[in-house]
Amino acid sequence: MPPLSRRSPLLCLFFLLSASIASAAEAPAAEAPKPVKYINATADVNTECKTCPRTLCPNKLFYEQEEGVNVTCWTRGTNIMGNNMWLGTDKDCYITQYDITEFEGDYTEALPYCGRSSEEEPLTLESATIRYKAECRICPTINCDVWSYLLEETEVDLTCWTANGQVVIDDPYWLKTTNNCYVSQKHLYSKPDITYLDWCGPIPFLEMEKHWNENGTSEIDSEPSSSSSSSSSSSSSSSSSSSSSSSSSSSSSSSEANAPDIEKRAPLPAPANLAAHYLINVTVGEDFANCHAQPSEKSRVLKRYVFNQEVWLQCITERNGTYWSETIDFCYVKSGDFWESPEGDCKCFYISV
Ligand SMILES: *[C@@H]1O[C@H](CO)[C@@H](O)[C@H](O)[C@H]1NC(C)=O
Ligand SMILES: *[C@@H]1O[C@H](CO)[C@@H](O)[C@H](O)[C@H]1NC(C)=O
Ligand SMILES: *[C@@H]1O[C@H](CO)[C@@H](O)[C@H](O)[C@H]1NC(C)=O
Ligand SMILES: *[C@@H]1O[C@H](CO)[C@@H](O)[C@H](O)[C@H]1NC(C)=O
Ligand SMILES: *[C@@H]1O[C@H](CO)[C@@H](O)[C@H](O)[C@H]1NC(C)=O
Repeated sequence: MPPLSRRSPLLCLFFLLSASIASAAEAPAAEAPKPVKYINATADVNTECKTCPRTLCPNKLFYEQEEGVNVTCWTRGTNIMGNNMWLGTDKDCYITQYDITEFEGDYTEALPYCGRSSEEEPLTLESATIRYKAECRICPTINCDVWSYLLEETEVDLTCWTANGQVVIDDPYWLKTTNNCYVSQKHLYSKPDITYLDWCGPIPFLEMEKHWNENGTSEIDSEPSSSSSSSSSSSSSSSSSSSSSSSSSSSSSSSEANAPDIEKRAPLPAPANLAAHYLINVTVGEDFANCHAQPSEKSRVLKRYVFNQEVWLQCITERNGTYWSETIDFCYVKSGDFWESPEGDCKCFYISV
């Protein structure tokens, strides 16, 4: 955890500096020494308090549902359910007004503006490529809702990392992408150099139904990949990869400034025929296990695993009552050939077509 303790003071320093520069240059903006005015409110749902008022910004902390929140200033950020107002709290971070009890008055009259610098979005970005079928989740554990499905070879931009995710095989690192969801590091071709990325901060348990963002996206940079009609079925493979690649191309890796402010709750692309799950490792329980090009005995054998060999699985599918597992060699083994029973482990991903 050393990076945290180093990073946050630095960030604060940055904010203090930019705040004082801003107030020196412009009118005497709201400065710290004055008696701090605040409005107390209560969080309606678990809500992330961010270092900048955008869904992609790292978290400084989070408020739990029912927790009290003192808001001290207002600013503009990602459009959440038709409203782009975000509020600064007395903990020096920003929450969307949508997640707290409604205020009867007008925040812009009751509270000072947080300052121009509050609208900046100093994101760190690093590009990466998905190696195995992955689920991109709203938070980095397996009980978190799946936001989108990322097929192998999908290009993504990473914005921050966490070491507190679900352990995948042996790796607890998950990365947040600019699609505002988390993928496990194990699903990437290579480990990103996290020294160039922000820590995502503490991440609460989030649920899609409580954090849905209808028509989300800020007008500031709403041009990228409008909401790809999420229609249904088959074409999902191409639609999911194309939507994510278009967002990555718009942001490239120019770090800083105008990074895309992707809709917080993008429509969920229909799962591919073989819905992805998470990588699991199993061992061969037969003398050998054939790995076929297609999930069928008649299909060509591409690879043969031996007794007790450890094999990593990406997902499973059912054909005519038989379960098949797709391995990381992109071929299919009858699940019955393993000691373990992957379908028990993976049942929950049977969202199927
Ligand atoms: C704000 O604080 C006052 C006084 O402590 C309290 O009566 C009120 O219920 C609080 N409001 C909210 C929304 O927590
Ligand atoms: C809000 O600020 C007041 C005054 O500083 C403090 O007494 C109260 O505990 C704060 N509430 C929360 C939820 O932090
Ligand atoms: C989303 O867009 C639809 C159609 O324009 C509109 O009726 C609806 O009110 C919008 N929702 C929000 C939360 O702004
Ligand atoms: C999976 O991998 C982990 C970490 O290498 C190992 O401890 C565990 O025994 C493996 N499980 C199986 C079933 O091979
Ligand atoms: C599925 O099982 C049925 C009945 O046993 C058989 O007629 C059919 O050919 C099988 N289909 C495939 C794809 O194996």
